[in-house]
Amino acid sequence: MSVTEQPPADGPEAADAAQEALHDRIAADSLNTRRDYLRIVATVSGGLAIGGIGVASGILHRHGDSDGAPEVKKIADQLLPGESLAFRYPEQEDRAVAIRLEDGTLAGYSAVCTHLACAVLWRNDRGSEGELYCPCHEGIFDARTGEVTAGPPPRALPKVLLVEETDGSVWAVGTTRSGESVQEGLCRQLGADRPDLAERLGCPGASAGGAGTRSERT
Ligand code: FES
Repeated sequence: MSVTEQPPADGPEAADAAQEALHDRIAADSLNTRRDYLRIVATVSGGLAIGGIGVASGILHRHGDSDGAPEVKKIADQLLPGESLAFRYPEQEDRAVAIRLEDGTLAGYSAVCTHLACAVLWRNDRGSEGELYCPCHEGIFDARTGEVTAGPPPRALPKVLLVEETDGSVWAVGTTRSGESVQEGLCRQLGADRPDLAERLGCPGASAGGAGTRSERT
């Protein structure tokens, strides 16, 4: 798998734990059998620090706004370098975009501009490696980080965490808020329901017995 990425914020152990948690997430949501799970060789490109996910208050409430874990959703059978895909996640009304950069990096974002909620488009012909572009007021977001590089948007785009399986299929597995690392996003969205994963991730206050979490999944 590959997730929208920046350098790891919490070192390789956190990255490994978060990667394993993403694997568990897929398995736990019953989208794969145990055998399928073992075949998943998801990797998190460049570590797990997915920072800079902006959520414009009252506009982008969906992306990263839930304390519960959104559904895991297959979005494509394959996404090749230079390709992009518009999809909906976590809910049907939530516009999102997945992009595969020429170097293979896979990235996913909310496609709702953090300025006034226009649709953000992937423009492969802009910038050195493409840009996320909002035509309403010339807002531009970095393809690798979602950070604002030009125009009036006040915050980075929220990210959608993407996982790629060995067969090339691409799955959306979660979202993060503005400024959250992947680990923080996973702790918030998964920790409450999966204290075992939360503990493995080193989530604050987490323990396998459930301390510091809301509830056990039944
Ligand atoms: Fe996107 Fe204004 S709505 S820049």
